[in-house]
Amino acid sequence: MGTKAPSSDLKKLEAELLQDIAGAGDLAGIEQVRVATLGKKGRVSEQMAKLGGMAPEERKAFGQEVNELKGRVSEALEARKIVLEGEALTARLASERADVTLPVRLGPVGDGRIHPVSQVFDECVEIFADMGFAVAEGPDIETDDLNFTKLNIPDEHPTRQEHDTFYFRPKADGSRLLLRTHTSPVQIRTMEVQQPPIRIIAPGRVYRCDSDQTHTPMFHQIEALVIDESTHFGHLKWVLEEFCKALFEVDDVKMRFRASHFPFTEPSAEVDIGAEAIGKPGQWLEILGCGMVHPNVLANCGLDPERYQGFAFGVGLDRMAMLKYGIPDLRAFFSADLRWLRHYGFSVLNVPTLAGGLSS
Ligand code: PHE
Repeated sequence: MGTKAPSSDLKKLEAELLQDIAGAGDLAGIEQVRVATLGKKGRVSEQMAKLGGMAPEERKAFGQEVNELKGRVSEALEARKIVLEGEALTARLASERADVTLPVRLGPVGDGRIHPVSQVFDECVEIFADMGFAVAEGPDIETDDLNFTKLNIPDEHPTRQEHDTFYFRPKADGSRLLLRTHTSPVQIRTMEVQQPPIRIIAPGRVYRCDSDQTHTPMFHQIEALVIDESTHFGHLKWVLEEFCKALFEVDDVKMRFRASHFPFTEPSAEVDIGAEAIGKPGQWLEILGCGMVHPNVLANCGLDPERYQGFAFGVGLDRMAMLKYGIPDLRAFFSADLRWLRHYGFSVLNVPTLAGGLSS
């Protein structure tokens, strides 16, 4: 017949294909071989195309051979691909290996410092969150009504003078806005929109026209408010004691409640702590004002004072930072002196948690 037996051609083709497969060095290479072999215009498909021009007998035998060849070549392709995939994965794992024993390289983050007020702020929020308090907020610019009147401080009340308030220019109707002199207006804002039980803290900035070593025109307070049907002064004392122990990171703190007066609480007290906790034995330091919320304040917010009661307190955050971290002059807190911040500031990575230590 003059034509070579087709099967010898196929054997040669198979040998070549298997050689190509074995020679593929990576996944892209094996894909190329696959397309050149089994693709539409690949060498096996080329053989398939011959079938159309063959006599039925010949076609049957040749078709079977080509099919068998195709099966073997496909298997070889698959097997080689698995080997190459394994090699690629091993190479990738080797190149991406992280040496977890290397020291941390902080970069610029390591140079930044958390301000002591921010630090103490975060510490307090952590402590009160653990006791089940939610965080509430109010604006720095307040109305007379919320900063004073609703807190049982009517017009002409002497406390208004004591607060050294920064007022804005009066509006046409005679009302005037002011910079809040304490965080207590957040008590009113909360009670006006929320039914008891209430358990919130409200940290924020407050303003008074005052400046010396322990006073700045702007400083920070944390207000706390608890209202329900049964909370009493004993609860207040317990909360304050636990708070101080947690904040100063001591097992025992000596506290003193001094009778005092705030128009919005009755009875009222100021709290001192024994300064030995911060290395000044024999001295007392005033840290906060507190008391049972005055019935008039509850009524001003639409709550029935016959049914509801509770306590409130306001802590000076900057004072706490001074005490805890032994910082003598409050004015330096706000002078933006980088040397001061490097000395008294905290690492960005030192996030206060009760479990991990607040300030360690
Ligand atoms: N608002 C008071 C102050 O700034 C502190 C305080 C808050 C007292 C809540 C009693 C209850 O001095």
